[in-house]
Amino acid sequence: MYAIFTFLVGLAFLPFFIYARFPYFLDDVRYIFNGISIGNRVKRYASKKPCYTLLDRFLDKVKAHPLKSFIIFENETYSYQDADRRSNKVARALSQHSKLQEEDAVALFLGNEPTYVWLWLGLTKLGCVPALINYNIRTKSLLHCFSCCGAKVLIAAAELKDAVVEVLPALQEQNVSVFILSKECDTEGIETLSDKIDAVSDEPVPLALNSNLTIKSPALYIYTSGTTGLPKAAVINHERVWLASSMQTVAGVRGDDIIYVYLPLYHSAGFLMGLTGAIDQGITVVLKRKFSASQFWNDCRKHNVTVIQYIGEIMRYLCNAPKKDIDQNHMVRVALGNGIRADTWAEFLQRFGDIRIVECYGATEGNTGFVNYVGKVGATGRVLTIQKKAQPFALIKYDTERGEPVRDSRGFCVEVATGEAGLLVAKITKRAPFTGYANNTQQTEKKRLRDVFEKGDLYFDSGDLLKMDEEGFIYFQDRIGDTFRWKGENVATTEVTDVLVTLDFIEEANVYGVKVRGNEGRIGMASLKITEGMEFNSTATYEHVKAYLPSYARPRFIRIQNSLELTGTYKQKKVKLAEEGFDPSAIDEAMYFLEESQGYIPMTKDIYSAINDGSMRL
Ligand SMILES: *[C@@H]1O[C@H](CO)[C@@H](O)[C@H](O)[C@H]1NC(C)=O
Ligand SMILES: *[C@@H]1O[C@H](CO)[C@@H](O)[C@H](O)[C@H]1NC(C)=O
Ligand SMILES: *[C@@H]1O[C@H](CO)[C@@H](O)[C@H](O)[C@H]1NC(C)=O
Ligand SMILES: *[C@@H]1O[C@H](CO)[C@@H](O)[C@H](O)[C@H]1NC(C)=O
Ligand SMILES: *[C@@H]1O[C@H](CO)[C@@H](O)[C@H](O)[C@H]1NC(C)=O
Repeated sequence: MYAIFTFLVGLAFLPFFIYARFPYFLDDVRYIFNGISIGNRVKRYASKKPCYTLLDRFLDKVKAHPLKSFIIFENETYSYQDADRRSNKVARALSQHSKLQEEDAVALFLGNEPTYVWLWLGLTKLGCVPALINYNIRTKSLLHCFSCCGAKVLIAAAELKDAVVEVLPALQEQNVSVFILSKECDTEGIETLSDKIDAVSDEPVPLALNSNLTIKSPALYIYTSGTTGLPKAAVINHERVWLASSMQTVAGVRGDDIIYVYLPLYHSAGFLMGLTGAIDQGITVVLKRKFSASQFWNDCRKHNVTVIQYIGEIMRYLCNAPKKDIDQNHMVRVALGNGIRADTWAEFLQRFGDIRIVECYGATEGNTGFVNYVGKVGATGRVLTIQKKAQPFALIKYDTERGEPVRDSRGFCVEVATGEAGLLVAKITKRAPFTGYANNTQQTEKKRLRDVFEKGDLYFDSGDLLKMDEEGFIYFQDRIGDTFRWKGENVATTEVTDVLVTLDFIEEANVYGVKVRGNEGRIGMASLKITEGMEFNSTATYEHVKAYLPSYARPRFIRIQNSLELTGTYKQKKVKLAEEGFDPSAIDEAMYFLEESQGYIPMTKDIYSAINDGSMRL
């Protein structure tokens, strides 16, 4: 009797013992369960012929709740049925006025607005593959985006007409038809689209019936700056759309949630984790043209938003905004995103109340990802042994000065110790494929690392340094190589260099990112060698970078050097320069600072201390 009693009491306490020894046990179990069910779901969708895509999901949601609000934008609300009808009109207009065929790529060049969603849905109904172009890019980079995916048609916002006109002759040479989202346009070679969409009926179009469509067929192209050079189009197949959209399930989003989407739709965070994830759940999207710190919480309150997305910078901007009594007066319960720093995280929770922050790590084209589903402050993910078994990855020693992984005497890479930062590489397997970049085998190959732990193996090189602790939490450390990240955008240093050296007084340029106290990522800096007999012209440099580079990619600091140092392997030395930063009392060479309203002005100690103490925000 007594024995049974002790046994029962013991059993009752068992959960507490488990909890004390394994505090994340329940979260881990839930995560594994979610992972398995998402995997099974995608497998089921893949087994259908043709496969079940997100468009099918959308149409099912239209059937299930036609009148439910789908997109709320400014003062308009569109139901699921409205979206279906509007996308029918897009599909009809384009099939009447263009020569589009199934599988053709179509470039979308516009900002966040409901039309973005109708265009994507309409094109998908026609079986075309939308290419989501960053509306900040211009000229050479913009043109390059076309040759990447071989787009036949460009659809641009009316306000981006000037950017389109700049490249129009080159587009015409490539036989790209250009449509602009307005009712009138007097530029020869540009057709209007809005009037054509208005003119057609909103009856359903016969859906592209491609029996060859599989889960591996391309669904979208999303551009990344990857490690070098011009933007590259990552091929996003249907499987990847499903997996990325499922992040909302992992974060605990439910069918009655309302999500706030202000991140750009041309990135995977906004498009896949935000928009298509919301369609998967069948929820309402409050779409916003751009982030605004002053409107953020008002929007959330006004529309009863329950789920927000973030990048680290945004969380900091929100914390920096003036405090208000109503700071905790909102219904937001989940925040899903990447890049929040530990100090901002703690401050955010304290100020805005109990919000579940789901920090995750992943790259648009990458083959691995992590989720911090337990809310451990500062970590970007949690790694379970079972996940590492299913999708092997490693953190390996990296030589930042040489810009390559450290190899041992046999030529293999070396894993770092627990707590030490290493380059994340993930094994390329059938389950964790790397689909690469469209029409760019060279860049695709650059992201592949061979003979990592044994002869003939193949890994994806993430380009990121991470570290892991004893409990299995993984922390983002830095980005390496030829890119840096600023304001949520990846900047390829070579692209900036190419723009700078077209100025005749700049003989050579070395571009790198420098850390700024209190900011995520790194801001752009360029070290320049001036052509002999010429002088640095700050006005010309300012006008040039303003014309050719989006604001986040423009070097904020310029340093003039007599010669630029090279490494033993003739690569530009960046690490030392990046460490030296922009402190005028430590650097006795001429330096300039890009002041938004004035252009490049000489760098001073006052500017330096204003940046450092946070009174001047970059
Ligand atoms: C692939 O890229 C090359 C050069 O970048 C370009 O000439 C070619 O047209 C592209 N092919 C397609 C199918 O877009
Ligand atoms: C563009 O179209 C013209 C006429 O149809 C054709 O001769 C030419 O080869 C095409 N150019 C390209 C780059 O496809
Ligand atoms: C499917 O693929 C086969 C073989 O590649 C091709 O002959 C057929 O036309 C394709 N069907 C469709 C509907 O695209
Ligand atoms: C938000 O929720 C409140 C309370 O549940 C409700 O009264 C209000 O109508 C909702 N607002 C909107 C825009 O749905
Ligand atoms: C600097 O560039 C500007 C704009 O290109 C030009 O007007 C000016 O004359 C240049 N200054 C010098 C000293 O060359």
